[in-house]
Amino acid sequence: MYHQYIMVIIFLFLTESAVVLQANLCLEKEILLLPPVNFTIMVTGLSKVLLRWKPNPNQDPRINCVKYNVKINTPNEDDYETKKTQSTSVNVLHQGFSASVQTVLHCGSRFFQSNWVSAELQAPPGVPGTSAVNLTCVTKIIRNEVSLHCTWIVGRNASEDTQYFFFYRFDRYTKECQEYRKDSWNRNIACWFPETAIDGKGRGKLAVHINGSSKQMVIKPLDQLFDLHAIDQVNPPMNVTAKMEGNHLFIQWEKPVSNFPRKCFDYEVDIYNIRRDYSKIQKLQGNSFDLIIDPTCKYSIKVRATVSFDCRKNGLWSEWSQSIYVGEYEPTHMTEWLLSVLMATICFFLLSLFFICRICHIWTKLFPPIPRPNSKVKDLFISNIYEKSRSGETEIEAISYVEYPGLDNLDDSVF
Ligand SMILES: *[C@@H]1O[C@H](CO)[C@@H](O)[C@H](O)[C@H]1NC(C)=O
Ligand SMILES: *[C@@H]1O[C@H](CO)[C@@H](O)[C@H](O)[C@H]1NC(C)=O
Ligand SMILES: *[C@@H]1O[C@H](CO)[C@@H](O)[C@H](O)[C@H]1NC(C)=O
Ligand SMILES: *[C@@H]1O[C@H](CO)[C@@H](O)[C@H](O)[C@H]1NC(C)=O
Ligand SMILES: *[C@@H]1O[C@H](CO)[C@@H](O)[C@H](O)[C@H]1NC(C)=O
Repeated sequence: MYHQYIMVIIFLFLTESAVVLQANLCLEKEILLLPPVNFTIMVTGLSKVLLRWKPNPNQDPRINCVKYNVKINTPNEDDYETKKTQSTSVNVLHQGFSASVQTVLHCGSRFFQSNWVSAELQAPPGVPGTSAVNLTCVTKIIRNEVSLHCTWIVGRNASEDTQYFFFYRFDRYTKECQEYRKDSWNRNIACWFPETAIDGKGRGKLAVHINGSSKQMVIKPLDQLFDLHAIDQVNPPMNVTAKMEGNHLFIQWEKPVSNFPRKCFDYEVDIYNIRRDYSKIQKLQGNSFDLIIDPTCKYSIKVRATVSFDCRKNGLWSEWSQSIYVGEYEPTHMTEWLLSVLMATICFFLLSLFFICRICHIWTKLFPPIPRPNSKVKDLFISNIYEKSRSGETEIEAISYVEYPGLDNLDDSVF
């Protein structure tokens, strides 16, 4: 007990004196800060690096509250301060990575900084235009597992024998694709993970890495980072039901299969009046909706969902639920009228065609008569065309029938 007491006193004394020393230092005009030493960048995972450095051993020992300013130069500029001598950065690495660090000291209102030290990772080698492009990914919950589906396009300059390999990292988990879809050259162009280690609420970042190999060229890898909320597609709402009472339409549904509770969803209800070909889309938060409708019309109803901003940053809408139908559908008088006019026009056209042909003897002009015309054959032409026209087939078919090579034989057998 007594010893501990002494220790605390000594500790307090030492820190006190350090603060006093530093306070005195702050009064000095110039303070020489030395940059950190042994700055290294190490790849520790897909799209993840560890930056490490050591305090400069030659630094004035009276200065003991220094901090470090870390600056990421490539691929995206960023800078931040830390008291630690290491830092993790999550960034795509296929274009290389470079960073700098300096020692800084805040002394009251004064601020001192050392020179920078820098380090970099070279971009991985590869022929330009050979990496996978247009990478898109979607996560969904299927049977309580988070599934991942990604697709990409083969780089324009990649040879036919290129093969791509797909990896993802979420947090500490890195997985290689097992289920690829292939193009006609047998090159992998999509990947499906029925289950993953990805957060079921779509929070955090997903790192994707696609590298490749070919006998003819070095294939450039592709890195991409996705915000999970932006690629997470919730399931459609469940058990959508609708009933009509008089001119009231009541619609109800259940929340989608999801790790989010009921209160976390926004919905869109699409009510489509089939007769009037008119859609009304209603946004709302509850699980039911009712509205006044025209009970003589038939309606189709579908609902979709998204996680509301209260629970997560905005993401994708679900697919629409299966349409359900209420109300009676009677074809409108307009449609009926149009149909009969159309039928009448077609009949009239065919009949006129027949008479024109008959009057002008078009077929004799088109097909000069066979040297010794057979009156029986001629009769056959006419009766055939007449039959065909009546049965609604076209004249062209009738003519091709006339051209049938075994006409004479046929003529004999029919008559
Ligand atoms: C820096 O690295 C060198 C060589 O690896 C090593 O000898 C030296 O002790 C390191 N300096 C510090 C301060 O750790
Ligand atoms: C493909 O390679 C050619 C030269 O070899 C280059 O000019 C072109 O930019 C490359 N295409 C892409 C998409 O990078
Ligand atoms: C790929 O992406 C580029 C740029 O984003 C776009 O112009 C191109 O149409 C896309 N290609 C395909 C096949 O989707
Ligand atoms: C692709 O990346 C994975 C994971 O980083 C690595 O293990 C593998 O060797 C790479 N393959 C090629 C062909 O570069
Ligand atoms: C949907 O309906 C089915 C059968 O009608 C029922 O078993 C199921 O529990 C319902 N689901 C929800 C989420 O209410």
